[in-house]
Amino acid sequence: MGQEIFDVAVIGLGYIGLPTAATFAARGCTVAGVDLQQSTVDAVNRGEVPFVEPDLGAVLSGVVSKGSFKAFTTMPKAQAYIIAVPTPVTADKNVDLSYLWSAAKNIAPALTGGELIILESTSPPGTTKKLGDYLISERPDLALEQGSGENQIFLAHSPERVLPGRIMIEIVANDRVVGGLTNEAAEKAKKLYEVICQGQIHVTDASTAEMTKIAENSFRDLNIAFANQLALIANELGIDVWRLIELANHHPRVNILQPGPGVGGHCIAVDPWFLVGAFPDFSSVTRAARELNDSMPARVVERIVETVAHIEKPTVCLLGLSFKANIDDTRESPSVEVALGVAEALSGSRILCVDPHVVELPQELAALDNIELVDVDVAIDANIVVLLVNHDEFTDIHSRLNSSALIVDTRGVWPSAEHAELVGHAEVLSS
Ligand SMILES: NC(=O)c1ccc[n+]([C@@H]2O[C@H](COP(=O)([O-])OP(=O)(O)OC[C@H]3O[C@@H](n4cnc5c(N)ncnc54)[C@H](O)[C@@H]3O)[C@@H](O)[C@H]2O)c1
Repeated sequence: MGQEIFDVAVIGLGYIGLPTAATFAARGCTVAGVDLQQSTVDAVNRGEVPFVEPDLGAVLSGVVSKGSFKAFTTMPKAQAYIIAVPTPVTADKNVDLSYLWSAAKNIAPALTGGELIILESTSPPGTTKKLGDYLISERPDLALEQGSGENQIFLAHSPERVLPGRIMIEIVANDRVVGGLTNEAAEKAKKLYEVICQGQIHVTDASTAEMTKIAENSFRDLNIAFANQLALIANELGIDVWRLIELANHHPRVNILQPGPGVGGHCIAVDPWFLVGAFPDFSSVTRAARELNDSMPARVVERIVETVAHIEKPTVCLLGLSFKANIDDTRESPSVEVALGVAEALSGSRILCVDPHVVELPQELAALDNIELVDVDVAIDANIVVLLVNHDEFTDIHSRLNSSALIVDTRGVWPSAEHAELVGHAEVLSS
């Protein structure tokens, strides 16, 4: 018997790849998942999800036990390949495409002609074309051009827009953009996504599809940077930035996002750099926004240090470590940066971190001897309480703080007037 040819192979079984693979399998496709990590492949083949994502477990265990989804560390043959490997930036903010090239190197020998290869990883403009050229350089017997006959391979980009925590809903319901290197490639990609997607599928060229995702996230980053700029100005004016934004947003065509201690995660804090890296001469606004948002954690550290300047060895309580509310992901989290900065600036102090969603301190914090991850009851009597993440669990904590607690609310969760009244002379500061 010859080697099995799967309908779809998904490369990279992380937050994006695994839900995608499981959803295709649940819609009747035979699906192979590929990951470099043996532990991920083993977990997936047991029907277990190696990270937290609601509703994925039930779908995964169903398709694994039905036999329509199998995971591998080696590349199988398939009619369509969907690449969902990481595309991070390096410390100096250049895109790191090494995961993509390693995936492409493994796909090339499996191709026979006629396959559809879709790049789902968020990528700088031009990457899908480079991927196609790379595959042809590895396999000169194949071709990208329309009308190349049986040797033609079909390259497309389709960025993912799902929100962690709602991935299984949004992967089906969201509109999707597909862009092909050729019209035929785009149409084939559209046809494939029609299997799982109930939203509209918008067809375009590959560069436009790549830029769509980067434009979306850069726009959100710009909007947050503007909110942060307003917070800095409001602080100088002595006015409440959240009230200011709430009032401005009553304008029917204004929608300013919320300020905060910085922008984290692996999308909004990363993708705008793809634009800056590719077009430095035309992206000064995007760069300035990114730099302002990146400067926010240090500004929060400064604010904390100033606020406790009169206290010898103050105990500091930091509420929240994840990069946004109600999730456990601390990757690129501004709160982690604030914790590192405070631990360094107040090296003789105890820094107590509280996060109901995080079970252990991220490595860079665990290495420091003045930082602990504690229960909220241990931290609540600290000299200063800093709200960094608006987890639901923190909404009402301000009413439990003692009257001498100094407070920095970087999320605008605790109404300042109400809180000042609650805690007597305590000062409520915005970011
Ligand atoms: N997570 C999100 O919310 C989100 C949203 C939209 C877009 N994206 C984009 O999707 C892409 C994937 O992100 P993610 O969050 O799923 O990443 P992830 O880190 O959760 O998962 C990536 C997986 O790829 C595997 N991998 C790395 N190199 C590989 C290779 N050469 N072959 C096979 N497997 C390999 C890793 O072991 C890992 O399991 C990125 O480009 C990201 O920017 C992510």
